[in-house]
Order: sequence, then structure tokens, then C-alpha cells
Amino acid sequence: MKLLLTALTAVSLAFLPVQAAKEVFAHLIVGNVPEFTLSDWEDDIRLAQASKIDGFVLNIAAQDPSNAASLDLAFHAANNLKFTLFFSFDYLAQGAWPPDRVIALLQKHAPNPSYFKPDGTRPFVSTFEGPASAADWPAIKAATNAFFIPDWSSIPARDAVSRAGGVADGLFSFGAWPDGARNMTTDGDKAFQAALAPQKKAYMMPVAPWFFTNLPGFGGKNWLWRGDELWDLRWRQVAEVQPDFVEILTWNDYGESHYVGPVREKELGLFSSAGAPVNYARGMSHDGWRRFLPFYIGVYKTGAVPERVGEEGVMAYYRTAPAPACPGGGTTGNNGDFGQAEVKPEELVEDSVFYAALLDTDKGVTVTVSIGGKALPGGFNRVPAAGAGTPGVYTGSVPFGGHTGDVVVTVSRDGKMIATAEGGKGISAKCENNVQNWNAVAV
Ligand SMILES: *[C@@H]1O[C@H](CO)[C@@H](O)[C@H](O)[C@H]1NC(C)=O
Repeated sequence: MKLLLTALTAVSLAFLPVQAAKEVFAHLIVGNVPEFTLSDWEDDIRLAQASKIDGFVLNIAAQDPSNAASLDLAFHAANNLKFTLFFSFDYLAQGAWPPDRVIALLQKHAPNPSYFKPDGTRPFVSTFEGPASAADWPAIKAATNAFFIPDWSSIPARDAVSRAGGVADGLFSFGAWPDGARNMTTDGDKAFQAALAPQKKAYMMPVAPWFFTNLPGFGGKNWLWRGDELWDLRWRQVAEVQPDFVEILTWNDYGESHYVGPVREKELGLFSSAGAPVNYARGMSHDGWRRFLPFYIGVYKTGAVPERVGEEGVMAYYRTAPAPACPGGGTTGNNGDFGQAEVKPEELVEDSVFYAALLDTDKGVTVTVSIGGKALPGGFNRVPAAGAGTPGVYTGSVPFGGHTGDVVVTVSRDGKMIATAEGGKGISAKCENNVQNWNAVAV
């Protein structure tokens, strides 16, 4: 009887609707952390836990000799701190993964208590691209019992869902940025859900704060996507779309400027190895993008906005030089390789300070953006979904207006200061190495 019950429990767990999961992960490039010690891993895990992130997605390139040691440290740290990890096999960075190496890595690491198993049994596995290797996965799944959620965004979702006999248990989209000078929409997410829903397969939705890359050594990667107004909007879209899982792009991809983790000098080697015209992540903190994650993640998981937001606060993000200040570095707005119309980068991004305030209500609230000591009045252009006067995030922006210097954003109610966002690199009309840094700071 006991045995039978155990067997029944295992069966019913395996068929638990994945919709119950709702976990939030952040994509971590293992190739950027060959110098990490155990305490570096633990520091990053604690920062992620403080933001209510459930785990890291470990992006691993097929030929990276640093993987083995890094993965041992990562699982050691995650086991210690009761954090969650899973693999994303990268099929583009250094070519396709040989299936036997995928199986060996899963057999080694999936037994760790920290390896993510949404039903308690099957190890969650993702990819960065690799639809041409889809036929490898029936055998990999047979050997590892993987719950397989690849990112095959280079092919349409309706094709990805049926690849290799429908081997995917769900799909992850890498479409986290808008095309052109537009606000992000959920059209891409809805196409994924429409392809997945008939087969009750899971959707993992991407969320990113920014995108800029200029790495001549990486095949001349050099483009920008619009990050203005993106972060808060995208989290609203997560609350609306209610995907099964969310993946933040990324924790530490400095080369594409969408990191939300801390900037450590020991992770910035790629700027010299790829011959970047300027190290566009050094000194460019993105810590502000983590600030409201506990709120956003709570709203996603509970499906409701709390009556009180907890601690009210403000964050701000901005680029550190006006677009006309110096040469653009050959960066394009958009990328023709993705079938997009390329435009000048300054047509995609505004020379403005963007801010977001987490408030119980905006009643009696004023915003001031100070640049180099010059106080500029702000306002809100986006209010919580339930309307002005309700709890949630309020956002707005103020143009640089030719001012340079340190940036301080202050939010007050009835003349009494609630919070400030400050301490990021200031705005300057001079560019390091006389080339634009299209990355932003977030404080
Ligand atoms: C993006 O949305 C905000 C808030 O609704 C709006 O003020 C802004 O004009 C929009 N930007 C673009 C480029 O559509």
C-alpha cells in the first residue's frame, strides 16, 4: 500500500500543471565568471535572493574550459544557500553541444538539491538557440528525464513547438526588446502562448532592462535596442500575460548591457578580448533595476497588487552623455540581421532621465530631477493598472535639457521627502575614448 501510494504520488506530481510553478530566474553567463570564488557566487546568490529571484539560469558554451570548475562552485554555493540553478546550453557561442556532453553534465549536476525540478523530479533544461540540433533531444530526454524548455526564437514558435516530434515541453522566448522607437508589446508573447496552449506546454517569458553591444571581436556585434521605459512596462506585461516561468535577461551579460547584477572588474575581461572601443560596463551600475523586483515578482506570483507596497521608493536610469556629444561608434539602432529596419541610435533613445517610483498613492506626490544641481520638475506618464491614486509603480522622464553633472531624483509627498535615487555616474558632455557609451546607469 505504501509503495503504491508513493508510486501514485510520483505519477500525479509528474503531471502537476506547470501553471502552478511561476518561478523567476536570471540568466547568468558562466563564461564571464571563470575567476569567481565560492564567496563571489554566494554574494551574487544573496543579492538575487534579496530581490526574490528564485534561481540562476547557467548559460554554458560548448567549448568553454572554465565550465567544469565554475559549475562545481555554483552548485556548492546554491546548495549552501538553498538557491536554484538550471542549465541553458548555448548553441551559438561556441557551436552545437555534443549530446553525450549534455547528458554527462546533467547526470553529474541534476542530482544536486539546488538543481531546479519543477515537479520535484524532472531537471529543467533550457538552451540558447540550437533548433538545428532538435533531433538530439529525444535521446537526451530519455537519458535524463529532462523537462525541456529551449529558446528556439530564431524559428517561429509554431514550428519550434513541433520540432523533433514535439520534443520541447515548452518554449522560452528571447524577444525581450521592442523593434524600433516603440514601446514593447506582448504580441510576441501571445504568439508563443497561442502555439503552446493547445498542447498545454509551458511558456517562459523574457524580461530585460536594456540592450547595447559594441564588440568588434565578436563578429562586429554593434547595435542598440530601445530600453527607454522598458523595465517597468515589461513587468506589467508579466503580470498580465501570467507566463509559467519568467527569465530575466540577464544577471551578468555586460557585453550586451542587460545585466541586473553587480559590476565586478573580474567579469569585464571580454571588453579587452573583444576589442571594445570603450569598456561600456565599468562604473555603469545597474543596481537600480533590482530595486522593485520583490514588488514586481510578488504581483506576478500572487496575481494581485498589495494594498500597501511596503517601503516606498524611487529608482532612475539614464545614459551618461547626450547623443550629439561624441561619435556614435558605428552602432545601429535595431539589427538588420533580424529583419529590422536599421535607424540611427539617437532615433531609438531619448536624452532623458527615466525614473520609477513605488508608492502607496501618488496623492500629493512631486518628483524633482536634479542634474548638476539644476532642479527640473518631473511628473508621471504611466500609473498603476488600477489608476492614479492606487498602490504600484509610477513612471516618468525628464530631458537632460543641456544640463550635465550628478543626477539626483527626489520624490516627496506634501513637501516631505519620501526617497531619492542618486550615486550613479553623472552626465557629461565628454565621452571616454571619444565614443558614445549607449549603455545606461540605473540607481
Ligand atoms: C511609451 O509609453 C509611455 C506611457 O504610456 C508614453 O508616455 C510614451 O510616449 C510611449 N513611448 C513611445 C515611444 O511610444
